[in-house]
Amino acid sequence: LGIDPEQIARRITGRTRVLVLNTPHNPTGAVLAIETLAALAEIAVRHDLTVLSDEIYGQLAFGIIQPSIAALPDMPDRTVIVDGFSKAYAMTGWRLGYGIGPTDLMRRIERLIVNTTSCAPPFVQRAGLAALTGPQDGVSAMRESFRARRDLLVRGLDRLRGIHCAVPRGGFYAFPFVAPLLQQLEVTVEAFADFLLERFGLACLPGTAFGPGGDGHLRLSFAAPEATLRRAIEILAMISTDGVAIPAPSGAAPWVGADR
Ligand SMILES: Cc1ncc(COP(=O)(O)O)c(C=O)c1O
Repeated sequence: LGIDPEQIARRITGRTRVLVLNTPHNPTGAVLAIETLAALAEIAVRHDLTVLSDEIYGQLAFGIIQPSIAALPDMPDRTVIVDGFSKAYAMTGWRLGYGIGPTDLMRRIERLIVNTTSCAPPFVQRAGLAALTGPQDGVSAMRESFRARRDLLVRGLDRLRGIHCAVPRGGFYAFPFVAPLLQQLEVTVEAFADFLLERFGLACLPGTAFGPGGDGHLRLSFAAPEATLRRAIEILAMISTDGVAIPAPSGAAPWVGADR
């Protein structure tokens, strides 16, 4: 799981203005190597593109340092880094993020932000300041615990029949390939994800939530405690060994139109 710069280059047309990158990647867990970033930078320069580099999982790469495309020659002037506090500082829901980019462009973005969201609440900004200026050992401790959880989940899933799980190199999602299991159960990935949630309370996203290329995959978060991950493996192990009858989807999701 990764990207091929050649494929990206083939998709660029006269109307292309921005190349959106995300590494470490949600949902695949891929971490782009410096050589790939250099090839993408070369494409951006050749086609005069701005790069929007979403680096929100940048501190959650395992055993490797995620380089930023913004650090490559000719790139500071055409890259906007977007980052935030949700992942490395476990501040999901605080709605605080930031962008780093060329002054001219950032002035225009500032005008847009000031007139749309106005600004983030001051106490949340103070929390962000504390996160950036305070001790960082919490980030490395969390990264190590995510790494242990990743290993637990990936090993557990990869030995199940009908499931192959690549090792995510960053972020906190496993993105197992479950197409053989889906075929055995005669179910779509969306119906399977709904079933896991409704029957077992196991929340996964179908890979198709990220586009058609995600078909045959499920996304599971390993930000959950180890006991929860073990239970997820148990559920999938039971299904992959014993099989299960999954009711045909009734059309609308059960919560559509429900009073909640
Ligand atoms: C790739 C990526 N970028 C950005 C975000 C934004 O996170 P937030 O809106 O919580 O800051 C997420 C959250 O899931 C993400 O996966």
